[in-house]
Amino acid sequence: MADGNSETKSSNQMWGGRFASGPDAIMEEINASIGFDKKLYAQDIRGSIAHATMLAHQGIISTEDKDKIVHGLNTILSEIESGAFEFSRRLEDIHMNIEARLATLIGPAAGRLHTARSRNDQVALDFRLWVKEELQRTEKALTALIAAFLDRAEEHADTVMPGFTHLQTAQPVTFGHHCMAYVEMFGRDRSRVRHAIEHMDESPIGAAALAGTGFPIDRHMTAKALGFAGPTRNSIDTVSDRDFALEFLSMASITATHLSRLAEEIVIWSTPQFGFIRLSDAFSTGSSIMPQKKNPDAAELVRAKTGRINGSLVALLTVMKGLPLAYSKDMQEDKEQVFDAAESLELAIAAMTGMVRDVTIRTDRMKAAAGSGYSTATDLADWLVREAGLPFRDAHHVTGRAVALAEQKACDLADLSLADLQSIHADITDKVFDVLTVEASVASRTSFGGTAPNEVRKQIAWWRARN
Ligand code: ARG
Repeated sequence: MADGNSETKSSNQMWGGRFASGPDAIMEEINASIGFDKKLYAQDIRGSIAHATMLAHQGIISTEDKDKIVHGLNTILSEIESGAFEFSRRLEDIHMNIEARLATLIGPAAGRLHTARSRNDQVALDFRLWVKEELQRTEKALTALIAAFLDRAEEHADTVMPGFTHLQTAQPVTFGHHCMAYVEMFGRDRSRVRHAIEHMDESPIGAAALAGTGFPIDRHMTAKALGFAGPTRNSIDTVSDRDFALEFLSMASITATHLSRLAEEIVIWSTPQFGFIRLSDAFSTGSSIMPQKKNPDAAELVRAKTGRINGSLVALLTVMKGLPLAYSKDMQEDKEQVFDAAESLELAIAAMTGMVRDVTIRTDRMKAAAGSGYSTATDLADWLVREAGLPFRDAHHVTGRAVALAEQKACDLADLSLADLQSIHADITDKVFDVLTVEASVASRTSFGGTAPNEVRKQIAWWRARN
């Protein structure tokens, strides 16, 4: 490009009329956004083509000028995609970089493109289009992650493991049921993505600087051409609204928080002490000094990315909280937060999907752990209520004494003799041993949404019909 990165202090060609000299070098540095907003080039060109087409359709510019503009913009698109385009910091942002190049390519007709529009509605459009497309990618990525969990849940609908509260053994559950808990979490994330897409499905272009325009534009036409349900309804709100970015970051933060909880379980479960899972070589690393080690680095990094993503949400909320209506340059700080969070989230979901698909489930270890820690104590208490007619609180007390006895004998509840149990409560019969195994325990939890394998299979089928 002719004017490249020239350091001359000539005044800006877009507003040179009012300015005698160009910006100080520091001004240029703090002001320029081209370093990051060049990511919006495709959206900017698409928006400009839709705008120029509408201007010609409405008789605001000639068809001849429109054709030149569209042709020039398509040339610029291929220049950028082939790497031939030279971005200039002096031209501040993607909008002015493209417009200046258009002027070089097609001459004075380029000056008509900015009729009835401002960079304020232009950037709102470009960024919204980008976020919408990113949300569509996120939706697909979450669907793949959910599918990975559904497969593992199906495979392990009968695999018993300890369920935890406070990370202390609570009651036996199935690994399939545990997987389906994540399906619910990521399913909610996916519906947040879908809602966010719906919320932002309005076209900003035509709001102009903030007040709309006197030119007879057709905002419904540009909205339709750009794939929006319709135009936004208030021009002041349109150029000052960044809710679409905040909704993206909120969704990303909640999703990242879910991914981080999963990552934490992977880290804990892959330790030799737990040994519930074995990570594939593809998603772990070794140690340069300790040959025995296999480290869950991918899971740890997913956990860490959550900090960055949550940080981006807080950063943009903080940028926005003090801004009077309508546009302020502060809002230029929206993009890096969203771009960084989007990249981190995409990577984190992809890494997790790979780990979930590849991980080896150590069913023997899970089963052994499921039976330890007196995990069927609630089953004994429930049996006393059902079969011996005790009030639950009394049954709880009797069971507590049985646990204490087992602890004293260093054995499991199921290993106590009938005489041991009858010494605690005379009404206990040998039928009680039927409920003290982990398999019997999980099979009995048939309430809707419970851990019984058949219940879990029903939930898998429900999700499969929706995935
Ligand atoms: N680079 C700017 C941004 O990202 C574009 C809008 C500039 N508008 C303005 N009135 N200076 O927000």
